[in-house]
Amino acid sequence: MELDPHVLHVAIRWVHVAAMATAFGGAITVLALATRPAGDPASAVLSVAIRYEWMFWAAAGVLVMTGIGNLAAFGADLSGPSTPWGSTLMLKLGSVLALVILSLPRTLAVARMSQAAGSTASAVVWLRNLYGATTAAFAVILGLAVWLAHG
Ligand code: HEM
Repeated sequence: MELDPHVLHVAIRWVHVAAMATAFGGAITVLALATRPAGDPASAVLSVAIRYEWMFWAAAGVLVMTGIGNLAAFGADLSGPSTPWGSTLMLKLGSVLALVILSLPRTLAVARMSQAAGSTASAVVWLRNLYGATTAAFAVILGLAVWLAHG
């Protein structure tokens, strides 16, 4: 029995969207924890942030692999970079690359803060900025992705 390629494509796309929801939703969660007025202590936010960093890198790997699967689904019909769809895809891929590269120092900073004895209020401000930027980057990429898929 042969597997219908459409079933495979829908499954890959479903995993792509699930990984996006995990990575984006997690960043929003850490940002919300670091932003609450009556604030959690820095150590509580940091322990969630550290767990998120593991999740982020796992989800990023899945997004890249399934993203390539999404591209493969187009086969020879894939639009070139000179078309509006193709140039938006390039913009999305560039944004993904920037997010991945800038996430490296974020993970290192979070790891370093969690090692530092006695987390301070300044750690919470750092976390707020780091996850604010991460959330904003995901929002931009999501906007581009939705345009690509449904525009
Ligand atoms: C190397 C990385 C990536 C590649 C190559 C890639 C590629 C693709 C492609 C080709 C599509 C299908 C577009 C269409 O059908 O017209 C897609 C859909 C999508 N991508 Fe990505 N993507 C990548 C990373 C990401 C990331 C990091 C996010 C997180 C925000 C993301 C979120 C989405 C969403 C939400 C959709 C729409 C799915 C739908 O509505 O059915 N992608 N992606």
